[in-house]
Amino acid sequence: MKTLPYLSALALLGTSLLANPYTTPQEEYDSIVKTGNEVATSLIQTLGKNLKQHLQSEGPLGAAKFCSAKAFPLTDNVSTKYGKDISVKRISLNERNPANAAQGSEKAILEALQQLQNNHVILPQYVVERVDSATAKYYKPLRINKGVCLKCHGDITNNTKLANFIKSSYPNDKATGYKMSDLRGAIVVTITK
Ligand code: HEC
Repeated sequence: MKTLPYLSALALLGTSLLANPYTTPQEEYDSIVKTGNEVATSLIQTLGKNLKQHLQSEGPLGAAKFCSAKAFPLTDNVSTKYGKDISVKRISLNERNPANAAQGSEKAILEALQQLQNNHVILPQYVVERVDSATAKYYKPLRINKGVCLKCHGDITNNTKLANFIKSSYPNDKATGYKMSDLRGAIVVTITK
């Protein structure tokens, strides 16, 4: 029998969630989800608020320059706020900044989410990966959920200044050509106990 690709994606997500050698008591799982959601939401709000302000005052080019200079420091601020056992980052399979490229199992998880998306399966709100007995990763899938994302991640060829800035800052940029609702990547919150 031919296996549909999304079934293997589901199986992979199932592997990461269920058939894992490290047992996670329900209480601990709930706490990972709660913390992960709080930290990911905080990062989305921080970046979103800043992006909005800079788009309003300076337009896409100024906002892109701001993101380029400040997305990392702002992300680190959120990590720091939650203490040394928690860190947060953004990942993508089609990254703009090479530092945001998904690594190892992160890649497998994003690929599985992408397969689900390709097969019109509604994506989970989050995925929890048990990395080892002390470490878990909470993934919040990020989609192109606002038209404004397309200003810098859609077809940007008509905005020559922006396209040039992106090209010179990120010569290997893979983060254009997106459409509404596409999977853009994920926020990953790593929690160590
Ligand atoms: C004003 C331009 C601009 C807009 C609008 C914009 N982005 Fe970005 N985005 C960037 C830049 C520049 C980077 C690279 C920043 C860095 O160096 O981390 C980036 C990086 C990212 C990353 C990290 C992964 C990677 O490719 O490096 C994600 C995820 C992301 N954007 C999602 C979004 C989403 C979702 C929206 C809409 C809510 C959005 N962006 C709107 C310019 C923009």
